[in-house]
Amino acid sequence: AAKPLSPLKKMYRQATEFYQHILLTTKVGERALEYARKRELTDDLLKHFKVGYAPDDDKILLTYLQQKKEYTDNDLRESGLFIESQDGQLFDRFRDRLMFPLGDESGYTVGFSGRRISNDKTIAKYMNSPETKIFNKSKLLFHFAEAKKAARSEKHLILYEGYMDVIAAYKAGIQSGVASMGTSLTTEQVYMLRRITPNILVNYDGDPPGIHAAERATKLFGQVQGFNLGIIVLPENLDPDEYVKKYGKEKYRAEVAGALSSTDFLLERLANQYNLHNDREKLTYITAAVQMIAGLNDPVAADLYLDKLARQTGVTRESLKVTFVRERRKLQ
Ligand code: GTP
Ligand code: MN
Ligand code: MN
Ligand code: MN
Ligand code: MN
Repeated sequence: AAKPLSPLKKMYRQATEFYQHILLTTKVGERALEYARKRELTDDLLKHFKVGYAPDDDKILLTYLQQKKEYTDNDLRESGLFIESQDGQLFDRFRDRLMFPLGDESGYTVGFSGRRISNDKTIAKYMNSPETKIFNKSKLLFHFAEAKKAARSEKHLILYEGYMDVIAAYKAGIQSGVASMGTSLTTEQVYMLRRITPNILVNYDGDPPGIHAAERATKLFGQVQGFNLGIIVLPENLDPDEYVKKYGKEKYRAEVAGALSSTDFLLERLANQYNLHNDREKLTYITAAVQMIAGLNDPVAADLYLDKLARQTGVTRESLKVTFVRERRKLQ
């Protein structure tokens, strides 16, 4: 028989169902449902991702869970679902937020991220559950339990910045999307992904912070052997959710199919730092690029990119090769 759920997991399951019920079927949920519609979240998507709504009420979840008489005061305190006042009273932590349940590897909800639905920029856009016995941010990937199943047929996992991006990809027929917790990618998460597949696509936002984060992620993946990495850079600063909204599912899938190799991506990033019409800068670029190519383990890949660099810069392959061999020696 299946192990009974721990009190915390049970509480999170009930909270998830409660918040979803409020969103989909109640009057207090109407504003949030309107917001969800504006974001093109259909009922099917809301149900699939178990999205809910925490109303602007400081005890609604507390009262609901207390009525069940299944939880000790300590369970409630440890859950992270409430905040404690100076005199020890509990209040709902999440108020007036669209609630995204965060699932562990088996798909059990272990935390929430709540998105503000008002325009009030003075409050944080997203608020996460605090870490608890069952929730460790650095070891959680949003949608991981489902994505790892989808990875068997899709043959890859796609890493996104945000929950809405994973949902947009899902809408576009890609079920293998995951997202880290807004924080930068951790080594633990890199190993979680590696256990499922070596084929990882990174599709962060197309804005400067997103591209910067993609560069950082590429380097982090590069420290672990055996990844086959692809990087998708979207135009016009768009994030995947905005891209799907603007250009549609088909075009989005074409962007995914056109992912750059990690070396292509890093070389492009490097080239952007220099004015290649200036010989002094061009020489610095070539040295840095050859250094990067010399770090590749795969001789075929090294060959390919030396060729590309020769074409891009107009320098002969032979002289690039001399520099390459010199850089290689330095690495041994
Ligand atoms: P939407 O505006 O709802 O489309 O969100 P987004 O996913 O496009 O947000 P953004 O690109 O700004 O940030 C990416 C991710 O960072 C989000 O999905 C969150 O996980 C996280 N994040 C963004 N803003 C906040 C915040 O104010 N607090 C926390 N804790 N995380 C945030
Ligand atoms: Mn499913
Ligand atoms: Mn972003
Ligand atoms: Mn974004
Ligand atoms: Mn977005």
